Amino acid sequence: TTVDLESGSYGLDGHPDFMRKEMAEQPEAVRRALRGRLDARFATAHLGGLDLDPMALRAVRRVKFLGCGSAYYAGQIGAGMVESLARIPADAEPASEFRYRNPVVDPDALYVAVSQSGETLDTLAAVQELRRKGGRVMGAVNVVGSAIARECGSGVFLHAGPEISVASTKAVTTMGVSFAMLALLLGRVRDLSSAAGTRIVGGLQALPDRIEAALELDAQVAEVAQRYAKSQHMFFLGRVSGWPVAREGAQKLKEVSYVHAEAYQSAELKHGPIALIDADMPSVVIVPNDDLVAKNLITMEQVKARGGPVIAVTAVDLPASAADVVIRVPDGEPELDPLVLGIPLQLLAYHTAAALGRDIDKPRNLAKSVTVE
Ligand code: AGP
Repeated sequence: TTVDLESGSYGLDGHPDFMRKEMAEQPEAVRRALRGRLDARFATAHLGGLDLDPMALRAVRRVKFLGCGSAYYAGQIGAGMVESLARIPADAEPASEFRYRNPVVDPDALYVAVSQSGETLDTLAAVQELRRKGGRVMGAVNVVGSAIARECGSGVFLHAGPEISVASTKAVTTMGVSFAMLALLLGRVRDLSSAAGTRIVGGLQALPDRIEAALELDAQVAEVAQRYAKSQHMFFLGRVSGWPVAREGAQKLKEVSYVHAEAYQSAELKHGPIALIDADMPSVVIVPNDDLVAKNLITMEQVKARGGPVIAVTAVDLPASAADVVIRVPDGEPELDPLVLGIPLQLLAYHTAAALGRDIDKPRNLAKSVTVE
């Protein structure tokens, strides 16, 4: 898509800035990302641009996502989905490190290069390193015709639409949607049952409305942001599928508000960083609807016992006493919870930045796409 900012053909449409506009566009972006790709009859997804037939899909022994910043965290969400739905080992790695460590390239792996802009130099260099060593790499890219899309040759386009704000929101969400479809596809050529596939297809179809409802938490999150905007530091804590959500939430807050945020695996807290907790150090705890709800409640207790404020962002009902603030996202298929739990975290970053008077669309020291070393 060509965006002509000068002529005003792509404007704010009444929104105060592009970050706000792009957050609001997420239900529509997700609808676009799903369009024509879900197959209810066979309980699977079709990703034509992948260029892999069922035999080739079955031969994939491992999946590795490569991206930078938020694209890397989205890849980590994708890796979790691939492992849980397809039962193939999967992980994510910062593309910015890949070429420097003389990586072992696995011929039986599927590598996924993740990028909104398709122009990030480090991600492009990782793709080139992979191709030089005979690795199979697909793109998960938003901008059609971009360098990474061309270099990969095959992949999925995100269809998020133009993203102008430096802080990525709708592109990150559509990355997660694309990876859910990839995981579904890889699962359905293996042992994921038709019933489970049908459940995921239904969950994806319901996702735009679920995200729409999560965006309606705006007023509550704005109030929370006002309350904690003066904090110097914040923790974002999560376990397993909540952990990349926490990382992305911390990244977004740092990027637009300049509040120092650190994401931690909840269980690692007690091995050192818990020493930092006091009344001035709020913790945002991510609670997906998984087997670890009780463990997450323990995390909240540990933080509260040290006097730290707790903000729970949760996909399950929690007792009001569990946290100082409970931000409850709407129900849906638990595998897709990471995509919905991310929405209040975007809003938190946005409203904190607004409360502190930051230049939201153009944070200091940052560029929309990083095309240098
Ligand atoms: C996201 O909010 C950041 N601006 C940044 O981490 C970004 O995701 C990263 O630079 C990768 O960009 P890309 O998706 O265009 O490759």
